[in-house]
Amino acid sequence: MAVLRIDKYLADAGIGTRSEIKIYIKKGFITINGTSATKPDTKIDTNKDIICFQNEEIQMDDFEYYLLNKPAGYVSATKDNTAPTVLSLIQSRRSDLFPAGRLDKDTEGLLLITNDGALSHKLLSPKHHVDKTYYAIIEGKVDEQDIHLFKEGLFIGDEDLETALPAKLSIVADYDVEQNLSYVNVTIQEGKFHQVKRMFQAVGKKVTYLKRITFGGLTLPEDLSPGDYRKLTKDEINRLL
Ligand code: URA
Repeated sequence: MAVLRIDKYLADAGIGTRSEIKIYIKKGFITINGTSATKPDTKIDTNKDIICFQNEEIQMDDFEYYLLNKPAGYVSATKDNTAPTVLSLIQSRRSDLFPAGRLDKDTEGLLLITNDGALSHKLLSPKHHVDKTYYAIIEGKVDEQDIHLFKEGLFIGDEDLETALPAKLSIVADYDVEQNLSYVNVTIQEGKFHQVKRMFQAVGKKVTYLKRITFGGLTLPEDLSPGDYRKLTKDEINRLL
């Protein structure tokens, strides 16, 4: 993180808003290496300086990474007026976390929550071709022809000529004749709006359930229930970086 304004550092650490921090500085609640801070724009070096709030040292990793099993009903955003956000599920004092990418409100599964903008950009950039695998339940019988069409790259646009890159479609359980349902995995390397749903729509079928099970080098742990999350391990972070 290195050199930055003390008010930003404390706001990111969840101590308060910038205006609250201004007041805390005036009241002498904040010290830098044992000396009271006097101005909100004072620069600190997070690698060297010891910052205390009411005599307690603020300790903060530069970057945090959480693997969340997103439940349906939550919005992949930092703020929303209509539904709870995925961030409301994460207990952290930090105020600079965000979801790396989006899952639709009704989609479940693996979502990375972080404050590492550079990594997020890299993972989401279409240039980098990061694999994302989804488990899906499809209304209709998915067959060899669909597998072939997905592999070729489907036309998923309306008026514009939007196409999806080749994707890997595989059938993971027997077709349920009675309920007319297929069970599949789909691996894509892009993140276009409603991409998986639109790909199935393009072959005349409908997604009734969607869950992301992998993202880059990460796999959704089987024992992580919807709504639960954990910090990434060092190994997982290195794999992503
Ligand atoms: N594709 C979709 O259609 N929805 C998602 O949430 C993710 C991928």
